[in-house]
Amino acid sequence: MTTVGIDAVEIWTGKLKLDLPETFAPAQGDDPEKYTKGLGLEASSFPDTYEDIVTMGANAAKRLMDRKGLVPDDIGRIDVATESAFDNSKPVSTYVAGCLEQVYDGDFHHANKGERKFACVSGTQSIDDAYNWIAAGRSRGRAALVIATDTALYARDSSGEATQGAGAVAMLIDEEPDLVALSHEQGYGSADETDFLKPQQQFPSVDGKRSMQVYLARMREALQDFEGQDTTHPDDFAYVPFHTPFPGMVRKAGLLGYRRIVRNTDLESEIAEEIGRQPREEAYEDREAYEEAIQTHMDELKQTDQYRSWYDATIEPTLSISRQVGNWYTGSVHVARVSALQAAAEAGRGLSGERLLVASYGSGAQAEIHAETVQDGWKEEIEALTIDEQLRRRYDLDFEEYEHVHDAHNHDLDTEIEAFTQPSGEFVHAGWGRMNERTYEYVE
Ligand code: CAA
Repeated sequence: MTTVGIDAVEIWTGKLKLDLPETFAPAQGDDPEKYTKGLGLEASSFPDTYEDIVTMGANAAKRLMDRKGLVPDDIGRIDVATESAFDNSKPVSTYVAGCLEQVYDGDFHHANKGERKFACVSGTQSIDDAYNWIAAGRSRGRAALVIATDTALYARDSSGEATQGAGAVAMLIDEEPDLVALSHEQGYGSADETDFLKPQQQFPSVDGKRSMQVYLARMREALQDFEGQDTTHPDDFAYVPFHTPFPGMVRKAGLLGYRRIVRNTDLESEIAEEIGRQPREEAYEDREAYEEAIQTHMDELKQTDQYRSWYDATIEPTLSISRQVGNWYTGSVHVARVSALQAAAEAGRGLSGERLLVASYGSGAQAEIHAETVQDGWKEEIEALTIDEQLRRRYDLDFEEYEHVHDAHNHDLDTEIEAFTQPSGEFVHAGWGRMNERTYEYVE
């Protein structure tokens, strides 16, 4: 079978920025280091008043189509992954197609469109759908456009407020991709959980601490499921991009992952000389005693040179964009992949043929793990991105402005405020139509 994967990617960040240590922490009466050191975050991206999930998604998609020289006829499906949808019937992908049809000759009437929901993992699930559509021979030579777009806003003064973010990632899924090829193998960890949900409400109900435990438990299951099918030796992967609600979460996931993937390897023997072999459940009388032993072992493992150098080389580079933007829900793991590839490009590292282990997660809850092989065109793709410039150009909100913009995006409030930035060469939310639908226009 021909290879299928991500041919191109584009990122669009919300135009506003909330500085967490400088602006948010003092207003909350928090120590700034809770954000920078604890959560691992410097700033959150926010949508300006004329931005929403449709504009950010359509703007990322347009940039991708322009760069790859695509027209609507080249695209056979458009799937949007989001947990910020504002309509229970009409999918966001139809709005995105409507936007794109304003600026391209031709239309997307031939394209299958949909919206995927499973919290943050739905971005990866949409890539899967596209992969399966192409692999099944149904694409008629066309590519799939997958857009992960979210305004990850939490209720004011809730614990999640520290981890907000807004942005979109557009990805082109095609045969013979330029960026990464997807593995056939996948591992899953999936269970009915109620840790983070939005039952007909805009802002999530979250049990924050429990959501972290559920993330780790499902991730462990997915890794175990994947191990049965493919290698997971740490030396086999250049980077391991995780779903990143905030970098501090990935610190925990990285340690858990490392412990599992060194089991029964040469590395475990090497580490054992220093801190002993990791505990095996069968050697303990009950689960509690085993868990206590594991915790002690993890605390020691975290300090070893082997773990620290693996983390610095394999995980740390995946976190650089996330630190500046916060959680983008469905887009977050795809931002982590881009961060890693950017770091490799900046370091002049040759990456063609190397593998990534990609760990996606969605609350509710499901983790998915697959491998990707970096393709020859990766560097050109990554160097074409403008994300660094976009981040630099964000408008830096003061706390009062942040409060207003949060209110302006709150569906239950009727707050009119002036935009902070001037749109140029992009889609904007222009108003409301006769059936209360959102309307969009392209601003030159
Ligand atoms: N200096 C250094 N570190 C500090 C510090 C300081 N002054 N103050 C606090 N910290 C550390 C804490 O020790 C903690 O680190 P550890 O977990 O390693 O101990 C970290 O900073 C955060 O501090 P708190 O636990 O006190 O923070 P909190 O009570 O405000 O809640 C949170 C943190 C639960 C993550 C909350 O932000 C939240 O609910 N977020 C939304 C839910 C979420 O993102 N869950 C993640 C898993 S679910 C998922 O991944 C899906 C998704 O996208 C939502």
